[in-house]
Amino acid sequence: MSDERDEIRARVDIVELVGASVRLERKGKSYKGLCPFHADKTPSFDVSPDTGRYTCWSCGEKGDIFTWVMKTQNVEFPEAMRILAKMANVTLKEGLRGQDSSQREMHHAAMAEAQAFFREQFSRSEVARAYCSRRGLPDAILEAWGVGYSPEGGEALTARLKRKGLSLAECKALFLVDQDAGGGFYDKFRGRLMFPIWNEKGELVAFGGRILGQGNPKYINSSDTPLYRKSRVLYGMNRAKDQLQKSRRAVLVEGYLDVIACHRAGVTSALASLGTSLSEEHAKLLKRWVEEVVILYDSDAAGQKAADRASRILAGEGLRVRIALMPDGEDPDTLLGTSGPEAVVAAVERGLKPMEYRVQALERAIPKEDPRFWVDVLPILAEAPSEMELDSLIVRLAHQYPGVTDVIRAQKSLRNDVLRARGAKPSAAPEHSESRPLPRPKPPSIRKRLTSSEVVLLRAFTDEQHRKSGWLFVSHPELFSSELAVRLATSIKDAFGSEPPTGPPAHWLHRIEPEELQGTFEELIADARGDLLSESVIVDAVQKLQQEMEQRNINNAMAKEMSAAERQQLLNRMKEMKPDKHKKPPTDGLF
Ligand code: UTP
Ligand code: MN
Repeated sequence: MSDERDEIRARVDIVELVGASVRLERKGKSYKGLCPFHADKTPSFDVSPDTGRYTCWSCGEKGDIFTWVMKTQNVEFPEAMRILAKMANVTLKEGLRGQDSSQREMHHAAMAEAQAFFREQFSRSEVARAYCSRRGLPDAILEAWGVGYSPEGGEALTARLKRKGLSLAECKALFLVDQDAGGGFYDKFRGRLMFPIWNEKGELVAFGGRILGQGNPKYINSSDTPLYRKSRVLYGMNRAKDQLQKSRRAVLVEGYLDVIACHRAGVTSALASLGTSLSEEHAKLLKRWVEEVVILYDSDAAGQKAADRASRILAGEGLRVRIALMPDGEDPDTLLGTSGPEAVVAAVERGLKPMEYRVQALERAIPKEDPRFWVDVLPILAEAPSEMELDSLIVRLAHQYPGVTDVIRAQKSLRNDVLRARGAKPSAAPEHSESRPLPRPKPPSIRKRLTSSEVVLLRAFTDEQHRKSGWLFVSHPELFSSELAVRLATSIKDAFGSEPPTGPPAHWLHRIEPEELQGTFEELIADARGDLLSESVIVDAVQKLQQEMEQRNINNAMAKEMSAAERQQLLNRMKEMKPDKHKKPPTDGLF
């Protein structure tokens, strides 16, 4: 029963459930709305995807998906369970409650026994220890990850489980033992390095076994068992969880040893799917903890394909995705060995947005002189998640667009071809929407009037800690595109000239004119609570705004038929404003 409850809990997104009847807006890590349980005027109702619970800070009503259905649909628990099970596509076993929990205890006992056995065997096995030391795996790491060894013979674990009074039939269901034609039991894993797999709750649920040296199959992984669903567990979850919650970002790698290598390199948010490709359920699981996933797969064709596939699944669940490929022929584990922890950290930091990644992969595969490049790049560009990303790629690629020599014309015709590939009517002027709106969360009013990059820069300015970085750009109204941002930037310029203000906004806000804009700054500050601001976020925002500005300037130039000299002047001006691209964003605490 508690199994099924967990299963349902994992599958039903509380934000989606509550959001079906309450309008929710995202605030930092949680979602806020008007409380449906009392006459609420200020949004005091909080829904947290992290904890899977809702709370009203005003009337005190709180609970989880089950109480939500009980309260809102006025039903008792068993009925709420049935309703949610249906939503989650879970089949309920009825009336097995008592038997279920004792069976589960027995399963956990068998797994614990096996783990103790593999660890003991490891300390006794010369070959296993020699293999690990060849691979540069120190004892402390092996111990931390509980790595063990299953001996060759094929009888020792079976005998031990039997001696401990554990049912071998149940152990077979747990993928610890198997049965031969005569019905005799034998060990499932033989002569392998054993990686225990813990679920997010820290329960030991499965094993992966690697052959020592060459051979087939290289890994044997537990299949689905009563304790384990491979599409629902990620290797490293138990150790990465705190960091995921802190940084809101996960790093997805391919293998067991890659997860371990990343953790050794300080990238403690690393995870891997297990002998299976990333599933939608994995993505849902991740969505509960993080907003962004960096995919760090091998750079070979298979790795690229897997990265592309995983990125679509993750994006489909509303996660931000970056794809970082390993240097040729490396995985995080070999990279740690050859180039040290900094190289692993750097590989993660090189993550590209999926579209940029797809374009770059294509650029590596086909030269731009080959028309096939353009045939293939159009559908990629047509999938652009925002006009801005599209603009920046068009600006980057268009000068090589075949058949057109004039850069501006080339941009225009590339854009039109992309729009055609998208199935939309070609238009001359690009829109400047920051991104296509996601179905939820709905942006609060201030965010509707500013692009997200504008919000970042203006917020950096109001924040004492980041004012220095924000200041450099915020007093340049020409950098902004929305009307409100231009007015705010102008008011900053007028109020402070060339010296940024000091202290918190309360000390200087009164100098902003006209007065109504002071209220706008206040709204901006209030709205920012819980959001993360960092140097890299600011640098990103500046770069986006500059690309937008370039595109605007190009469009203006096109409209005015600017002279070559004028255009050169414009370009020079833009160059002066380039942010310091070489300044590396701090990596501390990012994982
Ligand atoms: P790799 O072949 O890249 O292995 O498979 P690896 O993780 O780098 O391991 P080493 O460094 O050679 O020891 C990546 C992952 O794919 C799964 C495993 O989870 C593995 O970690 N896999 C691979 C299997 O499940 N079965 C296999 O036979 C091979
Ligand atoms: Mn490897």
